[in-house]
Amino acid sequence: MSKAYQITDHHYDVVVVGAGGSGLRATLGSAEAGLKTACISKVFPTRSHTVAAQGGIGAALGNMGDDNWKWHMYDTVKGSDWLGDQDAIEYLCSNAPEAVIELEEYGMPFSRTDDGKIYQRPFGGHLTDNGEGAPAMRACAAADRTGHALLHTLYQQSLKHNVEFFIEYFVLDLVMDKDGNCKGVVAWCLEDGTIHRFLSHQTILATGGYGRAYFSSTSAHICTGDGSAMALRQNLPLSDMEFIQFHPTGVYGAGVLITEGARGEGGYLTNSDGERFMERYAPNAKDLASRDVVSRAMTIEVNENRGCGENADHVLLHLEHIDADTLHKRLPGISETAKIFAGVDLTKEPIPVLPTVHYNMGGIPTNHRTEVLRPTEDNPDNICEGLLAVGEAACVSVHGANRLGTNSLIDLVVFGKASSITAKEKIKPNSKPVDIDSSNLDPILDRFDKIRFNKGDSSTGEVRTSMQKVMQEKCAVFRTDELISKGIEEFNQIESSMDNIDVKDKSMIFNTDLTESLELHNLMAQSKVTLYSALNRTESRGAHAREDHQERDDSNWLVHSLSWLDNNGEVKMGKRPVHMNTLTNHVQPIPPKKRVY
Ligand code: FUM
Repeated sequence: MSKAYQITDHHYDVVVVGAGGSGLRATLGSAEAGLKTACISKVFPTRSHTVAAQGGIGAALGNMGDDNWKWHMYDTVKGSDWLGDQDAIEYLCSNAPEAVIELEEYGMPFSRTDDGKIYQRPFGGHLTDNGEGAPAMRACAAADRTGHALLHTLYQQSLKHNVEFFIEYFVLDLVMDKDGNCKGVVAWCLEDGTIHRFLSHQTILATGGYGRAYFSSTSAHICTGDGSAMALRQNLPLSDMEFIQFHPTGVYGAGVLITEGARGEGGYLTNSDGERFMERYAPNAKDLASRDVVSRAMTIEVNENRGCGENADHVLLHLEHIDADTLHKRLPGISETAKIFAGVDLTKEPIPVLPTVHYNMGGIPTNHRTEVLRPTEDNPDNICEGLLAVGEAACVSVHGANRLGTNSLIDLVVFGKASSITAKEKIKPNSKPVDIDSSNLDPILDRFDKIRFNKGDSSTGEVRTSMQKVMQEKCAVFRTDELISKGIEEFNQIESSMDNIDVKDKSMIFNTDLTESLELHNLMAQSKVTLYSALNRTESRGAHAREDHQERDDSNWLVHSLSWLDNNGEVKMGKRPVHMNTLTNHVQPIPPKKRVY
């Protein structure tokens, strides 16, 4: 079948897939290192989902109060419920201040203090003094449009270099050699319908999360985790897929994000009794406890009939007590969001909010150098050569079982840059082109054609909605064996209808019907391993709250879970040890203890 397509070959030292914060930082670093670099993206770079990040980027600059990177590390390890790899967390937090200063020097328009320093606000789970002190002012912010400022800065910097952008190219699959090493990708040009093979010495997956597996999500519609699904199709495992972050403050009914920075600026939540209920759940941090804690508290309030509104099904976020000038200066974006999506003037009335899917802690397992892992029985840290992964697509793992707010943006730039350092160590600029025959094109294009020419009587949209509802209801904030098992049963029925999807538009040019169908296949694969991973982990840790196993169980479950999906759709589960060691002796390992806020 693939004979029908003309294939254009391209040769690069480095190919980056994805042009969000991590992809652009990887691209910029590779180009700065003199490597011949291509960046491929299914959307225009500044439309990548990083643009939607609001409240801040975490780094212990100490501009507005005492702080240091070791406290940031402590909070991140504790926030991860001890599932984060401590060597990677040390790398993240110790490199964070320099990474933010670098952004400032690149021209990122941060908000400023009166004396001209980068403005910083508190965020959930970030404290001083190894968790014992007051909230840390650690979130470096550009009002509540930090991701927008960051993405535009990195794109503009990339344009200064000799990067070649391939914009509106949809990557179909990885090209692997017979030894299982990555040699590039195959992509479909959405604009003219041509097929391209990008051969490269290092391929960096920066393809983001799969938030659109859920019905109500703060993620953009493009967040379909395409790179992680490609990894699964190459028999690489994904790690910690059971850990789905619900952001406490999605606008009720719309799911649009209201930044945690709102609580950082003094906002608070109430139930139908007008009670500031977080004081009961987290006496010290209150509304600035970590996200998993706040989301669970909100869900309990609603479940115990203290929800607000006609259907008693949400809670209220108050900002109306804050001076209107401050709201205008520090939170202009959410002022608009509240008006448009909730019909609320937040200077006068509270915003109805509900926990909404926001982030995937799980993804493609890597080490702190961003090398993708292909664990074996003998070596859990075995590497898949030629393949790196960064950002939400990756599971480094610095977020473990629960990510702290602002740690995503800093993860993007620290590990985006780390991937370019690794690439530079592995290849010389303008290396000899990768030489590989084209036999592995056939299965990629056969799969593409199968989806393109499939006949049936259901639509991509119908199947996607059914999948999203199962995930929303059966793999939710609280889970039980019974609930997840029912989810798997329903999922299997939906999966069998995949063969029945009729892609009506068979053309190759800007065919959104076909793109969405390819994306749905990617979402389905990740949803499946998520359900099985959630069923498998019989404890509660971070964002994974099992009502039938309510305690954290360090003796059996202080491990990363691994999930493989074979060609017959069978899921296989495995485990990988958590790195409890630090990277250097500048800091000591942080032993597990009970997590209270
Ligand atoms: O609430 C927010 O502004 C989101 C930040 C984050 O997810 O890091």
